Amino acid sequence: MRSTFFTKHAVAAALAALTAGAAQAEDVEVLHWWTSGGEAAALNVLKEDLESQGIGWTDMPVAGGGGEQAMTVLRARVTAGNAPTAVQGLGFDIIDWAKQGSLANLNDVAASEGWNDVIPAALQQFAKVGGEWVSAPVNVHSTNWVWANKAVLDDNDIEIPASWEDFVAALDKLKEAGVTPIAHGGQAWQEATVFDGVSMSVLGLDGYKSAFIDLNEDVLGGDAMKEAFDRMAVIRANVDDNFSGRDWNLATAMVINGEAGFQMMGDWAKGEFLNAGKVPGEDFVCFRFPGTSDQVTFNADQFMMFDQGGEVSAEQAALASAILSPSFQSAFNVVKGSVPARTDVSDEAFDACGKKGMADLAAAAASGNLVGSMAHGHANPAGIKNAIYDVVTAHFNGEYDSETAVMELVDAVSIAK
Ligand code: GAL
Repeated sequence: MRSTFFTKHAVAAALAALTAGAAQAEDVEVLHWWTSGGEAAALNVLKEDLESQGIGWTDMPVAGGGGEQAMTVLRARVTAGNAPTAVQGLGFDIIDWAKQGSLANLNDVAASEGWNDVIPAALQQFAKVGGEWVSAPVNVHSTNWVWANKAVLDDNDIEIPASWEDFVAALDKLKEAGVTPIAHGGQAWQEATVFDGVSMSVLGLDGYKSAFIDLNEDVLGGDAMKEAFDRMAVIRANVDDNFSGRDWNLATAMVINGEAGFQMMGDWAKGEFLNAGKVPGEDFVCFRFPGTSDQVTFNADQFMMFDQGGEVSAEQAALASAILSPSFQSAFNVVKGSVPARTDVSDEAFDACGKKGMADLAAAAASGNLVGSMAHGHANPAGIKNAIYDVVTAHFNGEYDSETAVMELVDAVSIAK
């Protein structure tokens, strides 16, 4: 990894030179998968922030929630010797790229701006490799959320379910009323996202950690895991016939327009509700997946700055600095549905779900109930994550019963290890 010479003053001087036109402003090319309405609105906050500093933006969107397609395109670009300037990345993928020596070193920006003191430790695990800062955290999402259409709940006399049994009773009521109980998009990463909350609700925090972080075979193949798969089968029985292949934001739209009651999805779903002009508490409600109200399965988006064959560039340093500025952290995350990646940002500008997200994150971090999302690459590296995806998806699509699924899970993980 290369060291950099950019101190706070150097960054400021470079920016001043760029805005004054004394130096040729280079664009930053940003590879990301934020292509839904809500995501694009959030990305605009970042584009505009940079443009106001005289830094141009070359957009490299690769559609596909969860980012698998984006990572495939990234690998091809890096192999061709043509890495983008900045790339959205998650969890263990960031660590992998850093270990391959592909990332520019952000230590000087981090040091001059005090990142060590304000970025939560859970995020630093993935933003620092071997003590060097290699990426700039943008947000903290979490996956164990449920989104519901408030009018649909009210019309059917449904209270926010506090337990799995209440949830199942609510699903039954909706089915009876001819409303699709659960909006779901049949893609492996979405099934895995649902599985984050469902497995946490059965395994508890320790069981979730043993299974997905420690890869303990007894837990992966145990009775509680079988119960988690049984619950996935109940969820499968409550989605509509056209779920296969549907994008996550189209599933969110089904809840927004009252076609479906619930969606289990990370809080990027909130960005879609907001983008449609909906208000939490009035039009929609957010709650933690029943049985996980004290836990947070987190998924933090970060931007990795790819080494362009020298020191970190002025534009890369400016982008990293802009991403971590407290005002940007508030403005961006209000729109995105996530919460700030700094502990010192006020929740004032956030809506009720955002305030809850911030409070839940702080409480979970303090009590040790904060754990990386398996579905979004914060529990284990891509090879293991994909092995788990395959089993969860095959079970969801009826290829395995729950008993077979746990056996397959043990095998798939042991082969991928
Ligand atoms: C996640 C990402 C979120 C959101 C989601 C759907 O992996 O962390 O920011 O964009 O995919 O695209």
